[in-house]
Amino acid sequence: MTSSTADRATFGVHSIDHFTLEVPSLAEATHFLTAFGFALEAQAGQLLLRTPASNHIWARIREGARKRLAYLALNCFADDFEPLRAQIVQAGGRVAAAAAQATVEGFWFEDPDGNLLLLRVGEKTSPSYRAKPRLVAGPARTRGACVRAEAPPARPQRLSHVLMFTPDIARVVSFYERALGMRLSDGSAGIVAFLHGRHGSDHHLIAFAQGDAKGWHHSAWDVPDVDVVGIGKMQMQQAGYTQGWGVGRHVLGSNYFQYVRDPWGSYWEYSADIDFVPPGFEWPSGDHAPENSLYLWGPDVPAYFFENTEH
Ligand SMILES: [Fe+2]
Repeated sequence: MTSSTADRATFGVHSIDHFTLEVPSLAEATHFLTAFGFALEAQAGQLLLRTPASNHIWARIREGARKRLAYLALNCFADDFEPLRAQIVQAGGRVAAAAAQATVEGFWFEDPDGNLLLLRVGEKTSPSYRAKPRLVAGPARTRGACVRAEAPPARPQRLSHVLMFTPDIARVVSFYERALGMRLSDGSAGIVAFLHGRHGSDHHLIAFAQGDAKGWHHSAWDVPDVDVVGIGKMQMQQAGYTQGWGVGRHVLGSNYFQYVRDPWGSYWEYSADIDFVPPGFEWPSGDHAPENSLYLWGPDVPAYFFENTEH
């Protein structure tokens, strides 16, 4: 699936700036996303999602007839913008009109699946180094866990990655490699593929799962450790969101996970300790048997987990 080193793209995006989702009910979205731990701001008919850690707007939610991705905005360095634009066109990216109501500027285009993308010069929101893992256990002779009443609520720190369904995984992976300079981290039997950014990023920044049509599967949000993943699961169950998958640990990416199913059949993932690919590092990508690589431990995968609810 991966291209050879010789025909790799010269330039690459470094981050996801934000994504915009359309959902049928902003009221339902407000309830779900507040419970998940976001700081929400309503502005001009949209919900802006921030995390407590920064003022960055990670996602925008607006009302639409059905849940779907409106667009995905990707950031690059200033010197790379024009070469990247040319590289995208060269790779077959279709130039597109700006998304309706979009307040951000850049180069709008479509990937082979018809997903609307925006290339812009912007902040590097992906990590540039491996965050030091937080020690879950306390030192000797002290209690490692706090009492339950003192446990802080789970709050996302930053966007880690997004995963979309695609009708043709080989085609879309090739496009993201050639047009956007992304690199394949790992894949699994043509069922799922994980791509990272070449300037330092989590093991996956954008991932794809084979489906019968395009669709939005999940966004993943970094939290400090596996305890917060578990607290997040409990927090969402108490808010009435009981469907999902986890707590578990992935093999590809190694992150601890809890996926919470939203009212429209896609997922918001609490993720901790995902693998990091340093700038310029050649990650030894592999093709892994699905039964051996989806998760190291965790509950059985619910039958609805890989449903594409967008058609
Ligand atoms: Fe994920």
